[in-house]
Amino acid sequence: MSTHPMEATARAIVASGKGILAADESTGTIAKRFSAIQVESTEESRRAYRDMLFTTKGLSQHIGGVILYDETLRQKSADGTPFGELLAKRGILPGIKVDTGAKDLALCTGEKVTEGLDNLAKRCAEYVKMGAKFAKWRAVITIGPDAPSSTCIAANAHALARYAAICQAAGLVPIVEPEVLMDGDHTIERCEQVTEGTYNAVYEALYLNRVTLEHSLLKPSMVVSGKNCPKQAGVEEVAERTVRVLRRTVPAAVPGIVFLSGGQSDELATEHLNAMNRKYAGELAWPLSFSYGRALQQPALKAWKGSAANAASAQAALLHRAHMNHLACLGQYKAELEKKALAA
Ligand code: 13P
Repeated sequence: MSTHPMEATARAIVASGKGILAADESTGTIAKRFSAIQVESTEESRRAYRDMLFTTKGLSQHIGGVILYDETLRQKSADGTPFGELLAKRGILPGIKVDTGAKDLALCTGEKVTEGLDNLAKRCAEYVKMGAKFAKWRAVITIGPDAPSSTCIAANAHALARYAAICQAAGLVPIVEPEVLMDGDHTIERCEQVTEGTYNAVYEALYLNRVTLEHSLLKPSMVVSGKNCPKQAGVEEVAERTVRVLRRTVPAAVPGIVFLSGGQSDELATEHLNAMNRKYAGELAWPLSFSYGRALQQPALKAWKGSAANAASAQAALLHRAHMNHLACLGQYKAELEKKALAA
């Protein structure tokens, strides 16, 4: 039996300890990131920043796919090559964020539902023509005294499953991203309970909507203590609880699991991933990898500061983080490697 092209795509993205660079910040989100480094967000500054990231030499050793935003997929590198083509030429698969953002969920105060199903089939067909091989849709689940509601979990699971089905019908591999937010003072136990319920609902909805799991990837959050919880769980506990939830809820047919960083510091996100791969080496049904946005880009963004003159140091910073996370996929990361890089 030959491998279906969508399964081949999903597997290629996470092959040999590779992960994903999430560079799909919407115009609003990238403006926030740029304002932290005092750079004005314009179409050109966004293009220049992404150009700098994507032309990093050696990136494809650690990165199998890059998620782009609509505007970026339509933009070109300085030499006139469209970004999708530039990445593909470098052996990196281009992907596209297709949701239109998390909006207030009616009658559920403080909760969100992700929108973007309208015209999605048409948009996917255009993205396929432009060279996109996979897609992303992010749902957010908030933990609070009365949250998440079953309404919120059901609405988001349904939307994720409808999105995934539409993508597969168009030939795009859907990355299914249910993010349980770190915001709040909840315990790690509570995070684990909510995460387990959420992933169960998501896989039930995917089944109902006829999604082929072999042609998809899961992008989950890790099971961590709430950001403001006085008791912060250590790395080993995060690794154990995260893997326990995934084993309980994610079918073995899924070709790969790529974590989001969700506001964890870049080094902690690497440590958590490494601990899971070290502890459970050879025991898991799926490769555990990364699809980090902030945890891959933060040092590069700070080094870049909006100036082409800083491109080389920004690219070195990105390559370093990508390399550290690649090692974490193999369970071979060590914190000393960060110091060595600083000294180099
Ligand atoms: P973070 O790793 O910064 O959470 O971003 C990943 C992402 O793609 C969120 O949708």
